[in-house]
Amino acid sequence: MTDAPDRTPEHILVGVAWPYASGPRHLGHAAGAYVPPDIFARYHRMAGNKVLMVSGSDMHGTPITVAADKRGMTARELAEENHANIADSFRRLGLNYDNYTTTLTPTHYRVTQDFFTTLLEKGYLFEATQTAMYDPQAKRFLPDRYVEGTCPHCGYEDARGDQCDNCGRTLDPIDLLTPRSKITGATPETRETSHFFLDLPQFQEPLAAWVDEASVNWRPAVTGFVRGWLNEGLRARAITRDLDWGVPIPLEGYDDKRIYVWFDAVIGYLSASIEWAEKRGEPDAWKAWWSLDGQGNPPGRAYYFIGKDNVPFHAIIWPAMLMGYGGLALPYDVPANEFLTLDGLKLSSSRMYTARLPFLPEALELFDADALRFFLTINAPESRDTDFSWDEFQRRNNDELVATYGNAVHRLLSFLQSRYGGVVPTPGDLSEADRAMLAQIDTAFSEVAAKVEKVHLRDGLRGVMDLASHLNRYLDEAAPWKSIKTDPERAATSMWTALQAISALRVLSAPFLPFSAETLHGYLADEGSVHALPWEPRELPAGRQLPVPAPLFRKLDDDELAGLLDRLKPIVVETGEPT
Ligand code: MF3
Ligand code: ZN
Repeated sequence: MTDAPDRTPEHILVGVAWPYASGPRHLGHAAGAYVPPDIFARYHRMAGNKVLMVSGSDMHGTPITVAADKRGMTARELAEENHANIADSFRRLGLNYDNYTTTLTPTHYRVTQDFFTTLLEKGYLFEATQTAMYDPQAKRFLPDRYVEGTCPHCGYEDARGDQCDNCGRTLDPIDLLTPRSKITGATPETRETSHFFLDLPQFQEPLAAWVDEASVNWRPAVTGFVRGWLNEGLRARAITRDLDWGVPIPLEGYDDKRIYVWFDAVIGYLSASIEWAEKRGEPDAWKAWWSLDGQGNPPGRAYYFIGKDNVPFHAIIWPAMLMGYGGLALPYDVPANEFLTLDGLKLSSSRMYTARLPFLPEALELFDADALRFFLTINAPESRDTDFSWDEFQRRNNDELVATYGNAVHRLLSFLQSRYGGVVPTPGDLSEADRAMLAQIDTAFSEVAAKVEKVHLRDGLRGVMDLASHLNRYLDEAAPWKSIKTDPERAATSMWTALQAISALRVLSAPFLPFSAETLHGYLADEGSVHALPWEPRELPAGRQLPVPAPLFRKLDDDELAGLLDRLKPIVVETGEPT
């Protein structure tokens, strides 16, 4: 087995999209933005790098105020309640943040107001009168997403005032053709109101130069999107709103306005890092991930994991804000995912499941976190929108997670119990097949690492599963259950070799399947946590006594799955026999 290559630890900032605290998040959000960074961060910690993974709940924004009004609560109460539930789901899904906070903390308010003041003083913000949409029936200004109408770019009829979900362009509500109020349906009036604007045209040149250099490793879709935006020419964007829910503007006389939710949310990456350092009692510790050196070089690499609808804010607006503020690292990569879709109706047995992805609390109630993580990763929407189907979930769970990985582990560890008293045997001379199996282990460590470093997590998990497949083939051929009768030393050598592969699988799978990797770590009678191990093969020594194992994963048969999905009542429609 090889030594781990020497590495100088790198500082890796893992920024994760901040979920809106407007309600629970669903599996599509988890597949797109929340599970990938956790895999990436877990890998980098094992690889010896210094990871800071931060996010929090995005507590501001009009959807929360509208929902709170309906429920007779304050926006703060509703946001706090939803935040607690989101944080609980994330914990159950195994997401291991260094700091998962909210945008309501004193630190976040302070950092956001400092950002605002600094950009204003440096001349990157200006105040101007804007023509905004006003709902004469509701007697209030309409926030961007509460105006709907036809997209001026692509003609999509249900574009929102902030963004067109069809062509992905960011919009101003004033641009919409035939606008209507989402609250009352009334045709909005335009009214004059004064706001602060981020002067994006000042950043046009520096951003274009930065994208040329920085985007060499970006996903083509992200680069294409950003170039398209830059080619159109950047326009100033209002960063305040007529609202009473948000970070206050740090100037006299603006009590009836607030900082726009998107402006404060992206600053959350920085404020959550600062809060992390404050909580540790090392208030400057965040700088190791953020502060440029004297030559303007970043101290490490900053990754932002998001869904594709968030690209403009992370690859253009936030970089512009960072450039304007000065001294802080720009994104290294913005590995945005496409969407997980559940389009149309999917047949399964005699039922149809309608087009709704389960929310995380439901999904985690019904399935093991690792089974969900496995499917969301092996089927990840990394390069195109990817359809979610329960049949596919079942097939991959049963044929791959259970049959390929789980069974290899279970049959080997059970056989070790029944024929070796659970004690790892001492190997004799290694055969060519044994050596080939061991060589595959080394290959898996370097190949999975290479994939994960490029944020090709789906291929990374594929690499782990390939090793499990290799182990199955090795076991079928070596068949220690046969050779134990004729050639015990050969059988012992095969068992030892196969157990080394299982020991490797426990390390390799840890970023992807953190719970079952930890369980397997226990079955190998190893110390501490699998998540504290370095990213390298770990010898399972001969003579070690292993405990009696249980299966790592659960098979889902048709009836069981149908029964579980029945509990997602609103999404199940009885249809009779499929044709
Ligand atoms: N709340 C936004 C969403 O769920 C994402 C915000 S990411 C942030 O789409 F960086 F701006 F916070
Ligand atoms: Zn459009």
